[in-house]
Amino acid sequence: MADSDPIVEAVFDAVAETAPAIRDALPGRRVESGTDNPSGESVMAGDLYADQLLGDALTAVDGVGSFVSEEREAAVDAGGAVGDGAYAVAIDPLDGSSNLRSNNAMGTVVGIYDAPLPATGRDLVAAGYVLYGPITTMIVADETGVREEVIERDSAGGDAEDGGRAVSRSVVEDDLRLPEDPVVYGFGGRVPDWPDDFTTYAREIEDELKLRYGGAMVGDVNQVLTYGGIFAYPALVDAPEGKLRLSFEANPIAYIVERAGGAATDGDTDILDIEPEGVHDRVPLYVGNEALVERLEDALADE
Ligand code: AHG
Ligand code: MN
Ligand code: MN
Repeated sequence: MADSDPIVEAVFDAVAETAPAIRDALPGRRVESGTDNPSGESVMAGDLYADQLLGDALTAVDGVGSFVSEEREAAVDAGGAVGDGAYAVAIDPLDGSSNLRSNNAMGTVVGIYDAPLPATGRDLVAAGYVLYGPITTMIVADETGVREEVIERDSAGGDAEDGGRAVSRSVVEDDLRLPEDPVVYGFGGRVPDWPDDFTTYAREIEDELKLRYGGAMVGDVNQVLTYGGIFAYPALVDAPEGKLRLSFEANPIAYIVERAGGAATDGDTDILDIEPEGVHDRVPLYVGNEALVERLEDALADE
């Protein structure tokens, strides 16, 4: 088994250490901030808080050369030579922030690239996400595989020996694999906006699997990782690029699911092979069990 990369471990330490503070900050940050992000979407107060906390924590990690966020126009220089020993970290600080008002699952998505952004998913050296559900968990995928950790405040509150870390990381699954037999599906967008070929595919899947769609990609993907199935935010009739951003949503999720034995496509190309023009580029995302993803690509290929 390969050894973990120390910079990767330091990045996930920093992400884990911010998780309780982000979770604690959510009750008071369920309102719109009054600003839009580079994707033109309204930013919640919770988005801004998570972005600031994670930005400060990640740019302070030795080996992080630059930081890119869904909420920021351009990369933040963190002083390292990305691609020459330092990594570029891309985050979606709070994924599914529309769930703040309805108190449903949300998360933080992290991609660690060994190249300046925008980069392809093949430049990822690790990826993961924190899921703020009934408990706080973190999925970490790197060259050693895919694992699930439970993140908790350290009862002792952290002490000098561990650098005052007030958080414990407990691995609860050290070799996470997609179950062979799919059980759940979750498809985003409004049904009238689905292209006909996707609608035909969706009707087949609806007859075979159980609907699990919660409006936050990390929660819905975690259902797929846990039970097997497929998640999609598809190309829409009036939005052929779909909604999700390649750098900090689709690529990290594709990296995680592929390392767990699944597949991820934009409809005809492996997500990790897509060459972006900008860090905020959107792509359609179809991700989950390989057979279901292959069926999807066949369905979209049929003219
Ligand atoms: P974010 O909150 O980071 O903008 O991400 C929201 C995304 C993703 O989490 C989810 O799959 C999708 O938006 C849900 O979109 P709809 O509200 O259109 O279902
Ligand atoms: Mn998101
Ligand atoms: Mn977000």
